[in-house]
Amino acid sequence: MMNPYDTPLPAEFEIGIAEIDLQHSRLYSLLERLRHSIDKNYGYAVNAILAELDMETRIHFSVEESLMQLLSFPKTDAHVSAHRELAKKLKRFRQLAQDHDVSEDLAGFIKMWLTEHIDTFDRQFVAHFLSNGINAGATTS
Ligand SMILES: [Fe+2]
Ligand SMILES: [Fe+2]
Repeated sequence: MMNPYDTPLPAEFEIGIAEIDLQHSRLYSLLERLRHSIDKNYGYAVNAILAELDMETRIHFSVEESLMQLLSFPKTDAHVSAHRELAKKLKRFRQLAQDHDVSEDLAGFIKMWLTEHIDTFDRQFVAHFLSNGINAGATTS
């Protein structure tokens, strides 16, 4: 469920599997809230948003990894490694944000999520999932 502060996921990042697009929308909204809070120098909000992003990321990665394993996606290992790497970068960014100005690191951090992960890695499993019975329109909420 989107809350009124949520920013919809831009169509260019949709991959065509509703449940995953919905989870990506939540991540995207958190990244937009992060951008806003860093712009305004809201230190407390930045930490809270990063904590939420960390939690949503864990849930999201578990869902994708379970689906890849259950559906025997051939590039599962590489994708799981990319998730571990992203989780490490999130952890580092979160530590840095505790007592540093992270405005200069922000663009790279967001690009890493949207362009380098969602738009590159996540797109790779779509055809495999769809041809193995995933219902593109179904969501769990
Ligand atoms: Fe994803
Ligand atoms: Fe992924």
